[in-house]
Amino acid sequence: MTKEEAKKKIETLRKELREANYKYYVLAQPDMSDYEFDKKLEELQKLEQTYPEFYDPNSPTQRVGGEPTTEFKTVRHKYPMLSLEKSYNIQDLKDWIKRISKMVAENFSFCVELKYDGVSLSNQYLDKKLVQSLTRGDGIYGDDVTTNARTIRTLPMILRGNDVPREVFARGEVMISKKNFERINIEQRKTGLPTYMNARNLASGTLKLLDPKIVAKRNLDFIAYFMLGEELPVDNQYDALKKLEEWGFFVPHDYKKAKNLDEVMDFILDWGVKRFDFPYDTDGIVVKVNEFEVQKKLGYTAKSPRWAMAYKFPAEQKLTKLLGVDFQVGRTGKVTPVANLAPVKLAGTIVKRATLHNEDNMKKLDLHEGDYVYVEKAGEVIPQVVGVEKSKRQPGAKPINFIDHCPVCNTPLVKQGADYFCVNTTTCEPQIKAQIEHFVSRKAMDIDGLGPETIELLFKEGLIHNVADLYQLKTDDLKDLERLGQKSAKNIISSIEKSKNQPFDRVLFGLGIRHVGATAAKILAHHFKNIDNLMQASKEDIMAINGIGPKIAESIQNYFSNPQNQKLIQKLRQAGLNFEENQEHKVIDQKLDGKRFVISGSFAHFSRDGLKESIEKHGGKVMSSVSKNTDYLLAGEKPGPSKVNKAQSLEIPIISEDDYLKMIS
Ligand code: IVH
Repeated sequence: MTKEEAKKKIETLRKELREANYKYYVLAQPDMSDYEFDKKLEELQKLEQTYPEFYDPNSPTQRVGGEPTTEFKTVRHKYPMLSLEKSYNIQDLKDWIKRISKMVAENFSFCVELKYDGVSLSNQYLDKKLVQSLTRGDGIYGDDVTTNARTIRTLPMILRGNDVPREVFARGEVMISKKNFERINIEQRKTGLPTYMNARNLASGTLKLLDPKIVAKRNLDFIAYFMLGEELPVDNQYDALKKLEEWGFFVPHDYKKAKNLDEVMDFILDWGVKRFDFPYDTDGIVVKVNEFEVQKKLGYTAKSPRWAMAYKFPAEQKLTKLLGVDFQVGRTGKVTPVANLAPVKLAGTIVKRATLHNEDNMKKLDLHEGDYVYVEKAGEVIPQVVGVEKSKRQPGAKPINFIDHCPVCNTPLVKQGADYFCVNTTTCEPQIKAQIEHFVSRKAMDIDGLGPETIELLFKEGLIHNVADLYQLKTDDLKDLERLGQKSAKNIISSIEKSKNQPFDRVLFGLGIRHVGATAAKILAHHFKNIDNLMQASKEDIMAINGIGPKIAESIQNYFSNPQNQKLIQKLRQAGLNFEENQEHKVIDQKLDGKRFVISGSFAHFSRDGLKESIEKHGGKVMSSVSKNTDYLLAGEKPGPSKVNKAQSLEIPIISEDDYLKMIS
């Protein structure tokens, strides 16, 4: 194939794949089989590798995610990203319409849309091509997340149509569909990782990930709701949405023109119910003045446009029968009352349990056996009991009181503040299991493969009684357990082994001392340098540290005065965990002699951070991109092709992990 032919072929493939992507993801009318799509994509990938001179950031190959970044650039928005004024009832809407009607002479109408509960994103297109995607940030400056945005299949990288202005901004919401959210959480559970609270937080976290390949796997969507620019081909919001659709954006067909408040209300009432079956989370309706001319006259306040108003849906409430109250013991021994309910559908999910928070709240509710209770989702996520329908109470029904002994180990409960605690932190089963879950969690020791079910299993089999026992486990102990095979057993053991390299602050956080969160653990580790200093410190010593209050200080003293905990630390120390702060940038030798390294790919013996630390310890430096000043490209498995190409063209030596190990040995 000549270069010219390759160029043509690349262009054709890109066009075909772009078209297929649009039909599949935006129109939901696929016309190419998955097989054919994958084949063509593979062919394109190969051609692009052979002919790197035809690299195009908007090629469909970028949908699977380009190279990881180390940080996002902050960029000023050309047009600030404002928020919307909110209203919660019809009166607010009426007042708003009255107010703006007085400000302009002409008649106007509305465009009513769903208010998508996601993360806003502003995308700049120049000559139809996506050039930059910015998060909202503080509204004036946002983060440049373009490489991540390119993985969003419903965000076009090249616009369709012949009336696209030279520069246009398409704004909208990055979303994770309800179905996709469920799928991701099922995966998380399977791999023993914590589940996500809601789709919005997950979408927002995903957009900020540094590795676009992971972003690509989360299947984000982009829903467009707004266009901005100097030469728009439309003069009203309704037509703008139609136009965005024509250009290849995903705009759910659920927007309408409304002539007056009555028609706005029809839409609100309709969607107050329908939204639960809508594939994405919505938290209200947005009412916009339709005509751009009128919008312009109304203008903006400092925070929001005067021509738009959000109407927030009220939290849905349901009445259901109380079947009983359980008392749950958490990681710190805190006892939380939880209502068991006759199953009821609430805001899209079936609810069977709802929190009652604490004793005071139970008293306020005045719960009786067999009561009918109102449930509501706090922040649309956690169901809670908010009231009792007293008219439905059976005569002679017995009141339900808080308990005074631990429901699991029968230790007398101790009241602290508004909460009761089981103080048996060393043998009360749910506490220990939760402690282990916390210890292995990502922010603590980051041990893979140990989800709640596996922990339960290990516990049931008598293989672990506390976190120190994890370090005594052997592959043979695990491989015959239900659901675990040789391979996952091996992975778990190697992940446990790796965790020994976690720094002191993570170990400290992992111990699960009450009130000692990840940040406090960092502060303490840094201040005291090692566990012995911390164990010997007085309450006053601890409190004297900026950012550490009496609650934390007292809790630390309590923790270390318990002989069981002292024993546990002794065991963890013997297992080889870090109880001393690593002098992170302490240089051990100068074997690398100031040489500059760029790292790419994944490595057998190091995490990325670990490798960086190792290079620095031996007197080397780490850079984020290859330039003529780079001394080595340290390439692991699957290094980024653009880094490799660049190193080759600059004739910079590309070394393997083994080469590196030899250099420092
Ligand atoms: S229009 C000038 N339309 O709600 C503001 N916003 O608090 C233009 N949102 O930041 C925004 N759905 O992220 C608009 N159909 C919709 C929307 C919408 C969700 C978000 C947007 C904004 C926030 C307002």
